Amino acid sequence: MIEFKNVSKVYPNGTKGLKNVNLKINKGDFVVIVGLSGAGKSTLLRSINRLHEITEGEIIIDGKSITAAKGKSLRHIRRDIGMIFQNFNLVKRSSVIRNVLSGRVAYHSTIRTLLGLFPKQDVELALNALGRVNIQEKAYSRADELSGGQQQRVSIARALAQEAKIILADEPVASLDPFTTRQVMDDLKRINQELGITTIVNLHFVDLARQYATRIIGIRAGEIVYDGPVEEATDDVFSQIYGREIKSDELLGETE
Ligand SMILES: Nc1ncnc2c1ncn2[C@@H]1O[C@H](COP(=O)(O)OP(=O)(O)OP(=O)(O)O)[C@@H](O)[C@H]1O
Ligand SMILES: [Mg+2]
Repeated sequence: MIEFKNVSKVYPNGTKGLKNVNLKINKGDFVVIVGLSGAGKSTLLRSINRLHEITEGEIIIDGKSITAAKGKSLRHIRRDIGMIFQNFNLVKRSSVIRNVLSGRVAYHSTIRTLLGLFPKQDVELALNALGRVNIQEKAYSRADELSGGQQQRVSIARALAQEAKIILADEPVASLDPFTTRQVMDDLKRINQELGITTIVNLHFVDLARQYATRIIGIRAGEIVYDGPVEEATDDVFSQIYGREIKSDELLGETE
C-alpha cells in the first residue's frame, strides 16, 4: 500500500506542486491520474519514488517511510518501484536484453553489473519479462531498432525484471499512435491483473483513463479534486477536474 500523509511540495522557485495531498493506494490497484497540463500529475507520481523530493508530509510504502529512508533502506524501497517514462529511457545503443537486465542492477554489486555479469537466472528472468510483453524475439536487437511501442514494452519488461511491486508510468503512451497506445495500455493492464502489480499511470486522454482505470484520481492546481471508482467519474466529474468542458484533443477517439 502507498499512503500520502499531508504531502506538499513547493519547488525552489515558489511554485506549489502539491498541496496537502492525502491518499491511500491499495495493492493491485490500477489508478489513473488525470488533470490539466501543469496540474501536478508528474509531481505526484515522481514523489512516490523520490524522483522529486516533497517539502512537507510523509509517503509510506508498504509500512515504510520512503520520505525518511536513507542509504540501503531507500535503495531497497526503490527496488520495488518500476518507472516508465514517455520517452522510454532506454540505452538506445544497447541490446534489448541489456536494457531489461538493467532492471536487475539494484540486486547486485556495482562492479558486477558494470562488467555486465548478470547471473543466468537474471537472463532467464529478463527473457521471461520480454515474453510477457510479446517481444522475446527482439532480445538481441539494438533498442533503437525497435518501434516506439516496442521500446515502451522493453521498458515495461525492465520493470518486470526488476520484480517491481509498484509500477509508476508518467504519460507512457504520449509518444505513441492510437493503435500502439492501446497495445501498451493492454500490456500494463494485463500485467496488473496477472501479477497484481500496483500500477499508477498519468494519462492525458480522458477516454483512455476511463477504459483502463479501476480508480481515477483527479488533480487540479496541486490538489486532489476527485478520487473514486471509474464508474462514478462522469463527464461532470471530468469537467470539474479540468475546470472546463473536455476538448476533443483530450480524447483518443476510435474506442473499441
Ligand atoms: N522543476 C520545477 N521547478 C519549478 N516548477 C516546476 C518544476 N516542475 C514542475 N513545476 C511546476 O509544478 C506544477 C506541476 O507540474 P507537473 O509537471 O507535475 O504537472 P503535470 O500535471 O505533470 O503537467 P503535464 O501534463 O504538462 O505533464 C506546474 O505549475 C509546473 O510548472
Ligand atoms: Mg507531467
